[in-house]
Amino acid sequence: MIEKIAAFQNALLKWHLSSARDLPWRGEEDPYKIWISEIMLQQTRTETVKGYYQRFLQAFPNVFALANAEESEVLKLWEGLGYYSRARNLHAAAKIVAYQRKGNFPCTFEGLKELPGVGDYAAGAIASIAFGAKEPALDGNQARVLSRVLGITEVIKSPAALYDRALALVPKGDPGEYNQALMGLGAMICVPKNPKCGSCPVREMCISFREGMQSEIPKKPEKLKRRMEKRAVALVIDDKGRVFVQKRTGGMLIGLWEFPGFTDARTIKDAEVCLEEMGFLVEPIREIGNAKHVFTHLEWHMTGYLFRSVRAPESSVFEDKAGVLALAMPTAIKAYRDYYLEGKTDDI
Ligand code: ADE
Repeated sequence: MIEKIAAFQNALLKWHLSSARDLPWRGEEDPYKIWISEIMLQQTRTETVKGYYQRFLQAFPNVFALANAEESEVLKLWEGLGYYSRARNLHAAAKIVAYQRKGNFPCTFEGLKELPGVGDYAAGAIASIAFGAKEPALDGNQARVLSRVLGITEVIKSPAALYDRALALVPKGDPGEYNQALMGLGAMICVPKNPKCGSCPVREMCISFREGMQSEIPKKPEKLKRRMEKRAVALVIDDKGRVFVQKRTGGMLIGLWEFPGFTDARTIKDAEVCLEEMGFLVEPIREIGNAKHVFTHLEWHMTGYLFRSVRAPESSVFEDKAGVLALAMPTAIKAYRDYYLEGKTDDI
């Protein structure tokens, strides 16, 4: 068994050395930068992260710069990456590291996990890559690769369930490199559908390959049922051509700016009534099309409506195009944001 583990590690690391992707965080040693990359990579594709990572580090080159930033600046740089609680947690964690720990990151798995937004995966990734700790970095991708290699035929409820088995495979020497090699294998070879076993450096040690079970492992859990929500989105334009925006103050997407959205409104009249309940007096202009956005547990099926504001509640915020461009807004309402930015409301 020990020889098999060593053969697995060696084959994987050899492959990684010769075929590693050219990623901007590769070879990075600064725990701050490693932390930013791993948080971004947690729920977002590598290709998408590349640009965000570079722009984020240009704006906030170290943990003090991030700690001293305004939350709105942090969210703006995150715009489009999704899962915005990651950005808010990064900001909160930066304050802890900068002000309470004088800029020093915790260097152990347990210490890292105390930072907001750092779970098992990120703690394992940062501890191993930045500090050489012998820890696995278990996310869904690694769980898929390991469950295939080890031939695990049960449903894996969460990657953490594989912790002991994953840990047993991590080498003492350069666990960070090993973890990144396994991530690379999951991204390039041991992909979810039609894994490229013909090019796999560890297929000789892979139980699924030997048994021809690659397409059945990992075993899929019962399908998640997503809730569907019909929503009306209201663009309310004032006499200067500006659009009404509001900040989300609770729940999902908290802190982001949006146009008002109403769950129970099915018609332009319903949306008008909802706006009246907010204190507006509006003139309905027209319907401006449908858009759909899929979140993990929820789908928004939106219809947009355009209104002219006759009277707005006190302290309402109206923004012109430059103002809207500067706000962090959820990708979900991009179609309506573009509608406004493209001047399609300029006629009213
Ligand atoms: N996915 C998550 N972390 C990664 C890393 N450090 N390198 C490549 N892919 C990753």
